[in-house]
Amino acid sequence: MAILEIKKAGDPVLKKHCEPVERVNKKLKQLLDDMAETMYKSDGVGLAAPQVGVPLRMVVIDCQDETGLIELINPVITYREGEMEGSEGCLSVPGIYGDVMRAAKVKVEYLNRRGKVQHLTATGLLSRCIQHELDHLEGQLFIDIATSLRKED
Ligand code: CO
Repeated sequence: MAILEIKKAGDPVLKKHCEPVERVNKKLKQLLDDMAETMYKSDGVGLAAPQVGVPLRMVVIDCQDETGLIELINPVITYREGEMEGSEGCLSVPGIYGDVMRAAKVKVEYLNRRGKVQHLTATGLLSRCIQHELDHLEGQLFIDIATSLRKED
């Protein structure tokens, strides 16, 4: 496993519309492992492939809840319900936090690393995290949609 360099806001890879994964080969499994390791090392709760310079539709999330580590490949939100506003930060935008309006509940369909279709229903922090990470796959950062921004050390 390896710690990867996290790309920061201003890097063009963070603005890309990411490509679907065609097959989860050995190299992409390694990348998923490295993304998780990089996320944990950085005290993050989610990391999208473009944040480590790879414009593919892959995300790792661990909100430290009962769901644990999840790897979402080619994820699609199939259902949204309600609204919630809350604070977000991003490993690509260090030191900046902001309030973002998100759907309160989402359902997401994705492939796991074995290529099997999975479904997940999420609320609360996990729902927020899924929406934040999926935005990365469209080249969108939370600072682009935040209703307010602030600096914190
Ligand atoms: Co982010």
